[in-house]
Amino acid sequence: MTQNPDTIHETVREHYAERIKKSASCCGPDSSSTSESNLYPVDLLASLPEGESVVSYGCGDPITLASLQPGQTVLDLGSGAGLDCFFAAKKVGAAGHVIGVDMTPEMIDRARSSAKRLNLDNVEFRQGYLEELPVDANSVDVIISNCVINLSPDKARVFSEAFRVLKSGGKLAVSDIITDGPLPEAIKKSLSAWAGCVAGAVEANEYVGMMKAAGFTDISITPVFFDKEDVDSALADMKDTIELKTIARDDIYKAVYSAKITAYKPS
Ligand SMILES: C[S@@+](CC[C@H](N)C(=O)[O-])C[C@H]1O[C@@H](n2cnc3c(N)ncnc32)[C@H](O)[C@@H]1O
Repeated sequence: MTQNPDTIHETVREHYAERIKKSASCCGPDSSSTSESNLYPVDLLASLPEGESVVSYGCGDPITLASLQPGQTVLDLGSGAGLDCFFAAKKVGAAGHVIGVDMTPEMIDRARSSAKRLNLDNVEFRQGYLEELPVDANSVDVIISNCVINLSPDKARVFSEAFRVLKSGGKLAVSDIITDGPLPEAIKKSLSAWAGCVAGAVEANEYVGMMKAAGFTDISITPVFFDKEDVDSALADMKDTIELKTIARDDIYKAVYSAKITAYKPS
C-alpha cells in the first residue's frame, strides 16, 4: 500500500458522503435502493415496512450469514445508511441491541433518521473509525460488515479491533471484496478505485492471515457471484488516473470477487 492512510480515509469519506447526499432521503427511487436489491432474500426485504427504501452499498448479505438470535448484541462495521442494522434489529428483537459504526457523518445522520422513521429503538449509530472502534472490549456477540473492510488502509488493525470488542465465542460474519491474483498497478494506485471497493481489496490468503494474526479461528471464505456490471459500476467514476482508460477490464473482472467470510473468537 503506497497511499497515505489519512488520504484514503478522506477520499473514502468524501466518496460516500457524496453518494448518500445524492440519494433520495426516503421511499423514493434510487439506484441502490432495497426495492431493487438482489443481495438479500425476499423474506428479509419484506421485514422492512412496505414502500420503505433504505439505501444499500453492500456486496452481499451478512445478515443471513450471521444467523442472528433474539437477545444478541450486534455490531455493524461501516454501517452506511443503516440497512443491515435495521435487518439485524428485527432479528435480535427488543431484548437485543445493534450498534452501527461509520466514519462518514452524512451516513450516520441518514441512518439515525431512518431508524427514527422505522421506530427502531434497539439500534444506535456511532461515528468512528473501524481501526479505533468506539465500542467496549468483550461486549458484542456478533460482528457483521458489508463491503467495508476492503476500504480500510489498515485491515490488520480492523481485525484486531473486531477481536477486542467480541465476547469470547463471538462470531464475525462479513461480506467483502477480495482478489484472486494481483490487480493492475494503475488500479492499485487509483484513489477512486479504492473508494469504489476495488483497489483496497487483498488476496484471500492475506485476508485470512490478518484474521489469524488478530486471534480469529475457524475461518471460512466462500466466493460469491460478482458480475461484470458490479465491477463496471465500482469503476465508473474513476477520474484520477489517466492510464486506467488503457487497462483491460477483463484483468479486473478475473481478479476481483465478493466473498462470504466467517470467523470466531475462541471461547
Ligand atoms: C461501501 S459502503 C457500505 C455501507 C453499508 N455497509 C452497506 O452495506 O450499505 C462503505 C461504508 O463504510 C464506511 N467506512 C469506510 N471505511 C471506514 C473506516 N475505516 N472506518 C469507518 N467507516 C468506514 C464508509 O463511510 C461507508 O459508509
